[in-house]
Amino acid sequence: MAAAASSIVGNNILSRLLDRHNRWPFGGLAELLHNSADADASLVSVGTFPTPVGADPFHPHFALDISDDGKGMDHGDMVRMMRIGADESIGRKDKRGKIGGYGVGFKAGSLATAHTAVVLSSCLEKRTVSVGLLSNEPYEERHERPHVGLVATQSMDTAMVDEETTTVEGRDRILDLIAKINPCLTRERIALWSGQMHGKSGTTVYLCGVRRNPDLPGRMIYEFVNERNGGDGGRSAGEPVGGEYGRGDDDKDVADMPDLRLLAPGASDRDMMFDEFPGRYDDQNAPMDYSLRAYLGLMFKSRTPKIRLFGADVAQRDLAAELVYRRRVDLDLDLDVGVGSDSAIRGDVGLHPPSEKRGLSGAMLYCENVLVSSYARQEFEIPPDERRLGVLLVVDLPKSTSESRTVHDRGFKPKDNKLGFDWAGKKRFRRKLRAEFLAYEDWADAERDR
Ligand SMILES: Nc1ncnc2c1ncn2[C@@H]1O[C@H](COP(=O)(O)OP(=O)(O)OP(=O)(O)O)[C@@H](O)[C@H]1O
Ligand SMILES: [Mg+2]
Repeated sequence: MAAAASSIVGNNILSRLLDRHNRWPFGGLAELLHNSADADASLVSVGTFPTPVGADPFHPHFALDISDDGKGMDHGDMVRMMRIGADESIGRKDKRGKIGGYGVGFKAGSLATAHTAVVLSSCLEKRTVSVGLLSNEPYEERHERPHVGLVATQSMDTAMVDEETTTVEGRDRILDLIAKINPCLTRERIALWSGQMHGKSGTTVYLCGVRRNPDLPGRMIYEFVNERNGGDGGRSAGEPVGGEYGRGDDDKDVADMPDLRLLAPGASDRDMMFDEFPGRYDDQNAPMDYSLRAYLGLMFKSRTPKIRLFGADVAQRDLAAELVYRRRVDLDLDLDVGVGSDSAIRGDVGLHPPSEKRGLSGAMLYCENVLVSSYARQEFEIPPDERRLGVLLVVDLPKSTSESRTVHDRGFKPKDNKLGFDWAGKKRFRRKLRAEFLAYEDWADAERDR
């Protein structure tokens, strides 16, 4: 029974991880979706638990539910998931094409969002179902030792414990702890989940004790927005609704959808949104900074996996395809990004009308499909005075596979919180990107004046 990890860590171990994501409202939650993508999920749904729409995820007995249909985890995988830090045995090769690599995302990301993560995972290959618990609640409530890395596994077919890894007492203990932390997550509920997953692989993370007041500047609060217009019973869950470019008012579409949003401190009116709050995020008050739905819509460049939020599909956007007067730019830096790969890095630059309308422009940097830096101008020293143009440069950078954060393989490496890059040749890349951007702005300016 792999339940001993908690005995070797200090009480505040999890609290120390919390800060990693507090610069960005939804950065913590994003880590869970990144993990689902790494598990080859074709669909991730973010919902409330229990399911009846209307359940407020901030209620102490409710939770956020992040479920995927990815490859799931067996007992060993679950134990590794709960562990803090990457497994050295996982070589560079296995990290290629994966978003994760540091071995902290799940832990830091969940705990930045909530005090407890309950993980259920079904693994068809091994025909097992596992339950795992990571909870900082004992520490936050009573300064007691947190629950780190408790995992129990049973057979998918017989519901008997997997004797090689789990004792009956071990499983009972975990299930009791979970029910104590969240009385809705009863044994029966978990059994129900297992039944629904019979013959399938997939993973559900329940985030319990969702933080309403994340430690953000200005103490902004989240608000759960649920079917603002009195519900829409006729809509099927699989149908994309709103937000698609070209289907009317872009921002309004997103605003009408169930969402998790940030409000300015003390704001009771939902319309007094984050973008009207002057603060540290001044430079990037894009919808994705205060609306989870807007962020999820841009998170994966390839638009896979598909994402559903509170029962309605997220309109996932391919910004590069939405650019008008688009130009391909070569950001070739002669980088050696790995054997057999093309070292040329190309981007698309063009006008993006919805961004223009919001006065947003800059570089949208993806790293192997995942958004890492949005509307970036400052870091490329692109002067702010021409923002109104709505110029976007969209580029998908290859990920460095080197363990080193610096010059060794001259690749790009997302920071451990996936909110920016470390890269070799950063200066050169910056200069090149800035030059391409400004050249396009000049051209667009000249075109407009004609
Ligand atoms: N939804 C999931 N489905 C399958 N496996 C998962 C899922 N979430 C996490 N895992 C497993 O748990 C491991 C640990 O996840 P975690 O996010 O903490 O680290 P990581 O993704 O390896 O690296 P990073 O810190 O860069 O995110 C992953 O490597 C993966 O094997
Ligand atoms: Mg991860």
